[in-house]
Amino acid sequence: MVEVLVLYYSRTGRTETLANSVAEGTRTVEDVSVSVKRVDYATVNDFISCDAVAFGSPNYFSYMAGLMKDFFDKALSIRERVTGKPAVAFTSGGGSSNSALLSLENMISSFKLQKVAEGVVSQGEPNEKDLTACKKLGEALAKAAIKRAEAPKD
Ligand SMILES: Cc1cc2nc3c(=O)[nH]c(=O)nc-3n(C[C@H](O)[C@H](O)[C@H](O)COP(=O)(O)O)c2cc1C
Repeated sequence: MVEVLVLYYSRTGRTETLANSVAEGTRTVEDVSVSVKRVDYATVNDFISCDAVAFGSPNYFSYMAGLMKDFFDKALSIRERVTGKPAVAFTSGGGSSNSALLSLENMISSFKLQKVAEGVVSQGEPNEKDLTACKKLGEALAKAAIKRAEAPKD
């Protein structure tokens, strides 16, 4: 069984809706369990113990939300313990800017995680297209986690 963590922040519920769709996508893959956590209720141990992770944030001033950034700041010291984990990102914004997504994807690269699918940018209230894209994102993440778990260790 591989463990996928969907870590997100949301104030008005849009990113939370996307996070739940990402989780739904992971559940289409066998032998996967998923937990969905708002970042202020998560700890760096959740990051260490999962096999793969999805990061979701609203766009705040063309960047991720402060609480997401704070989580990454706290995780700096455990960076070596998460290297190589499959990861994806998704964002919700009032506009169509992908700047918040880029900020999350920069973290994926700073932490030497493995980006396994293109991220999702949702504008305004999430629509069916956004929810479908998030489900696909979750499915791709779960499949990558299974593949990594099954790969021979060196
Ligand atoms: C403090 C703050 C700053 C924001 N800055 C931006 C921004 O720079 N660009 C943008 O498109 N939307 C911006 N928004 C709008 C939110 O990203 C948008 O409403 C988002 O869908 C909220 O997600 P949530 O429902 O998960 O909280 C901002 C909202 C807040 C509260």
